[in-house]
Amino acid sequence: MIHSLENIFEKIIEIKREGLTSFLNEVPTLLKEAYDDPNFSKSIIFPKLKGENYSRKLLISDEIIGPAIWAISWPNSSYAPPHNHNGEACVNYIAKGDLLVRDYKEIKRGEKYELNLINTEIKSSGDSIGIDPRINNVHSINSLSESQSLHVYPSYYENSEIFEFSEFSKKYNGLDLYIKKRINLSKEEEYEN
Ligand SMILES: [Fe+2]
Repeated sequence: MIHSLENIFEKIIEIKREGLTSFLNEVPTLLKEAYDDPNFSKSIIFPKLKGENYSRKLLISDEIIGPAIWAISWPNSSYAPPHNHNGEACVNYIAKGDLLVRDYKEIKRGEKYELNLINTEIKSSGDSIGIDPRINNVHSINSLSESQSLHVYPSYYENSEIFEFSEFSKKYNGLDLYIKKRINLSKEEEYEN
């Protein structure tokens, strides 16, 4: 198989038809194989770093059938706050650098949310991160060095949710509480924090 972005995208459409489990199992292998091919890795142009926040660039998408592949550049010590992907999956492939991924379980506390940390992992160049809405729907990412990653979403969804720190609450035994905000993931600028 020629590892072009278009071929990979066609293959992802096929995998997506097989369901969520196939998507989470097979897309990481597909991306790793493609990325090991210098013709593919050289063809991926990541967005330029600007300032302290990460930058996103849409590489390819199909608004009707679904998949979308984004390229993200992370300066050292940048942060994607806790968020979900509209109840859908996501596969991230780390092309360069090191990312710290935290998974949370959200618990409703009145009008706000507590986020219980359920897993912390460091992923480095060549690794993948699988976001399974049944397990780690809410997650945050910190870059531990200057990094680059590819993000594959099964659908071209626009709306998702981000958790913003709201208060430290005595009422709920001294927990950090968050409020949920809707964000539009299809706009490059709105997801930058
Ligand atoms: Fe995410």
